[in-house]
Amino acid sequence: MIMKTVTTLALALPLAFAALSSASAQEFSKELIDKGHYLATASDCMACHTNHEGGKPMAGGLPLASPVGTIMSTNITPSKQFGIGNYSEAQFSDAVRRGVRADGANLYPAMPYVSYSAMTDEDIHALYAYFMQGVAPVDEKAPETSLPFPMNIRASMMGWNLLFRPNAVHADDPNQSAEWNRGKYLAEGAAHCSTCHTPRGPLMQEDKSLNLTGAQVGPWYAPNITNDKVHGIGSWSQEDLVTYLKTGRLDTRAQAAGSMAEAISYSFQHLTDTDLNAIATYIRSVPSADAGQASGPSRFDQGKAGNDLSAFRGESFAEGMKGADAGAQIFTANCASCHGYNGQGTADGYYPSLFHNAATGASNPTNVVAAILNGVDRDTEKGHVFMPPFGDQTNATVSLSNSEVASLANYLMKDYGNAGLTVTPDDVQVIRNGGPASNLVMLARIGIAAGAAGAVVVLAIIVWLWRRRRSGPAEAATA
Ligand code: HEC
Ligand code: HEC
Ligand code: HEC
Repeated sequence: MIMKTVTTLALALPLAFAALSSASAQEFSKELIDKGHYLATASDCMACHTNHEGGKPMAGGLPLASPVGTIMSTNITPSKQFGIGNYSEAQFSDAVRRGVRADGANLYPAMPYVSYSAMTDEDIHALYAYFMQGVAPVDEKAPETSLPFPMNIRASMMGWNLLFRPNAVHADDPNQSAEWNRGKYLAEGAAHCSTCHTPRGPLMQEDKSLNLTGAQVGPWYAPNITNDKVHGIGSWSQEDLVTYLKTGRLDTRAQAAGSMAEAISYSFQHLTDTDLNAIATYIRSVPSADAGQASGPSRFDQGKAGNDLSAFRGESFAEGMKGADAGAQIFTANCASCHGYNGQGTADGYYPSLFHNAATGASNPTNVVAAILNGVDRDTEKGHVFMPPFGDQTNATVSLSNSEVASLANYLMKDYGNAGLTVTPDDVQVIRNGGPASNLVMLARIGIAAGAAGAVVVLAIIVWLWRRRRSGPAEAATA
């Protein structure tokens, strides 16, 4: 602990001097700005800091649903009035790697500084050069965040940071190849795979003991991507994973929608093949949580072609979309035109088959329901991939009710996927609402009169002191 603090100070000093010599007047080389641009792409700054409904690049204003309420992204263009144009490099580094704004206030971890804390000083320098001189300033104020009490107290994040913010940049593991180290650096840092794929603990921190074993992100579920052959992607080859990260699809097995589609559209597809291979090398080495290999079919080989559609073929649709056949009827009316009457998809694979498909074969029904409600929308060099949403009650041609979606999802899982699962209309409503709500706000509100934010800080300090007492000397000796 002691040694770590000293190191951070030592790093901070040169940065502070750089700031004093007025960094903004500095001219950065094109090469450095280009490097920063690439890193900004790898880190997907654009996906969160741009309002996709007509907003200007990096000008903020995208509402991000979080379990404690909606957090607005900020204007990070070099506008001096409304953006980060007055940020020194040290302040920029603090915002990106430590979650502290130029005015000293703490950012919410919706900004993935926990992952970015792994980024090296050189890379932060390049990012800074890009944001100061490679991004067009936008003189527009982004809307502000207002969270319910006590989450509106930004200082409560200090306690959280003490507990959960790593304070070390990535260090190469000498026992691993250069490719693996580059992959780990990108996957755990800039590309922040774990932000979505790692489950969170009671205070919303990433539970590293379950690294990449799957987690709910809003209405979607980011599946287990460890090397477990049944629960993870242990059955995928290196090439399979690179193909998926580049195009957002892998034959019938997996299609990226939701936040993964965004990550691919804005970020991963633009990475070099060398970097994608490095990421794949690292990801494919991440063991499952129990370190054992389960047996049985994976989500990629559940279900089969053919089903009981024949049972009701010829029956009148006028009978209504109800009873045991309701799901099959809804499927025929709304889905079969693209996915085939047997769910077999099209020969060219543009419309995927719904068996041997990660969504229908998964160990939870989230992505089947989310796909029906929200559709698929993804842009890559291979073109635009689109499935219409069926849950939009405002302007969609077809809008399915919760019980219709539940019948349809149950039919799909029974005939094409994981037959052990069922969905209720209430489950559908939860996903319609954007995913399960966290009880954090409620827990925090119940907290002692002083406000649970304070309690979190106190708790954090106690735990920190306690940890320090236990591991302090040993750590100082080995650091
Ligand atoms: C997952 C979404 C997400 C990504 C990806 C992301 N940010 Fe952010 N960022 C946010 C949110 C949300 C805030 C505001 C948080 C708050 O108000 O507490 C923020 C705040 C910031 C701030 C503080 C700005 C201010 O108003 O003072 C900076 C600087 C910043 N981000 C830079 C970046 C950079 C650079 C990248 C890419 C390397 C990046 N962000 C990627 C969500 C994101
Ligand atoms: C912003 C959240 C987010 C980030 C960041 C993210 N993912 Fe994902 N990922 C998801 C979601 C959600 C899905 C499910 C998409 C679907 O099925 O439509 C997914 C699906 C996947 C799948 C397919 C698994 C399957 O069974 O279908 C792989 C592989 C994957 N991600 C790898 C990665 C890697 C590697 C990274 C980092 C380089 C990464 N993801 C970063 C959210 C994310
Ligand atoms: C207009 C054509 C079209 C229609 C109609 C359609 N889909 Fe899709 N569906 C697609 C496309 C395109 C994809 C994504 C392919 C890709 O990612 O490469 C997709 C993907 C999916 C996925 C996988 C999503 C994921 O994230 O893993 C599921 C599940 C699915 N569709 C179910 C349905 C159901 C159920 C219906 C009927 C309510 C339906 N689709 C109607 C075109 C369609």
